[in-house]
Amino acid sequence: MNKVSTVLESLQEQGVSRRSFLKFCTVTASSLGIAGSGVNAFAQALGAARRPSVIWMSFQHCTGCSESLIRSGSPLSDRLTVENLILNFISLDYHETLQVAAGAQAEDARIAAMTANFGSYILIVDGSLPTAENEWWLAVNGHSGLSILREAIAGAGLVLALGACATYGGIPAAFPNPSKAMGVGELMDKGLIGRKPLINISGCPPIPEVITGTIAYYLVNQAAPPLDKHGRPLVFFGKTVHDCCPRLDHYKAGKFAASFDDDGARQGHCLLMLGCKGPDTFNACATTKWNQGTSSPTQAGHGCIGCSEPNFWDKPGGLYGFVSGFQHGVGTCAPPTLPSLPVI
Ligand code: SF4
Ligand code: F3S
Repeated sequence: MNKVSTVLESLQEQGVSRRSFLKFCTVTASSLGIAGSGVNAFAQALGAARRPSVIWMSFQHCTGCSESLIRSGSPLSDRLTVENLILNFISLDYHETLQVAAGAQAEDARIAAMTANFGSYILIVDGSLPTAENEWWLAVNGHSGLSILREAIAGAGLVLALGACATYGGIPAAFPNPSKAMGVGELMDKGLIGRKPLINISGCPPIPEVITGTIAYYLVNQAAPPLDKHGRPLVFFGKTVHDCCPRLDHYKAGKFAASFDDDGARQGHCLLMLGCKGPDTFNACATTKWNQGTSSPTQAGHGCIGCSEPNFWDKPGGLYGFVSGFQHGVGTCAPPTLPSLPVI
């Protein structure tokens, strides 16, 4: 159940130091484009924020979104891991994969949390919803997945659709889409579920720091961040993978790898001819990176397959097909620079 405590109180109860918290805030604020004195204000606001009740519901999915989150860690602190985040930053009242409870006990906990926090809880959805054959492609305890989502969305203050499946239907919606799977936004648009404020965090899976950064923004501002035309936070999805790619200079110089193991590939040449979709793909992979800031797909030598874009699974040419006529901009990128740690 939702305990009425602040983020910082809860973290300190678990032995997380104020310094670790400030380090986390510095990195998160930086990813949100906040620097200088704004970092202190951000840390104060986040520390004082009430922990929201979070109901996390999974439908047609591979569990990759949850795996992505629990495999992450803080870039600067070994104490403020994502487990700390889940258990202390928010009040995760229901998550089918992570919770100990099962069966009736789990269902009771979900209903109790939804009732106690009706109108204000954050509903995280991963996985798409099947709509074919009267919704019965997915059922739990005698209820269709869509009816369970309908019930949960009624009391939500904010909905976060996580991953390609929840945002756009994902692999379950791939042609010929036998279950007529849809993402949360499409379900709202078609009137199949109620409409609530929605943030799409796309990717297959999404970047963990993008998830935590978006939640932190919401807690501090009590409002969604500015969104792009696909409902994604602009601060993370405002530039293409190409705009910030470490291989961009080779692209501009016309140096392209012809195979994944040729000399050009080893020298960091551009992977466009090998099907890279980076110029058409909006995501923070090249700046936030993966595995605690270690690397990104194009840095590691694999082209972007466009996993944060709608319908990427069914695009002409397939995941590795070369596509001409990219929509990318001028290829400018200013990687975030970490502001200095606030004085404590
Ligand atoms: Fe990087 Fe792909 Fe753009 Fe080449 S096409 S610079 S590999 S994002
Ligand atoms: Fe996905 Fe492309 Fe990033 S494939 S993980 S958006 S580099």
